[in-house]
Amino acid sequence: MENSATLMPKIRATLQTDRPSEEKLQLICQLLRDAIPHYDWVGFYIVDPRSTRELILGPYVGAPTEHTRIPFGRGICGQAAALAQTFIVQDVSQENNYLACSPDVRSEIVVPIWWKGEIIGELDIDSHTLAPFTEADRELLDHICALVAATVRAVQTDLTKEVL
Ligand code: SME
Repeated sequence: MENSATLMPKIRATLQTDRPSEEKLQLICQLLRDAIPHYDWVGFYIVDPRSTRELILGPYVGAPTEHTRIPFGRGICGQAAALAQTFIVQDVSQENNYLACSPDVRSEIVVPIWWKGEIIGELDIDSHTLAPFTEADRELLDHICALVAATVRAVQTDLTKEVL
């Protein structure tokens, strides 16, 4: 993962700016997609603080998706949330519980984001490459999810102020 050495300082610098939290997450999606060739769609899902069993699409880069709300248990994102663990699907055509975002997607990794022992969101990455994910991806994304947790929490807190 040759670009991750320069990626982490850029992510830290982005988090230290005084931009709004959503904008920081958006920039981090872009940094990730630019740095890693097999990351084609990069986005955050936020656990709805009003229902706690549903994910809401947050900042992302890549093709627009119809999956703006995902109940826990549905799709790869919902399974990762329900089971509270990272999901790596190296070939989405072999996964029955999968919500297709675009026919170009071949594989996906979803990493939970934790705050005080609770899942508050996820980082979701789709790839157009078959079986591209390694331990290096998992380590990199675990690290990033820990770094962005406070920012994701701020976005989640803002959702409580929105009227649906
Ligand atoms: N494929 C995901 C849905 C989200 S889109 O990839 C952006 C899933 O199965 O949960």
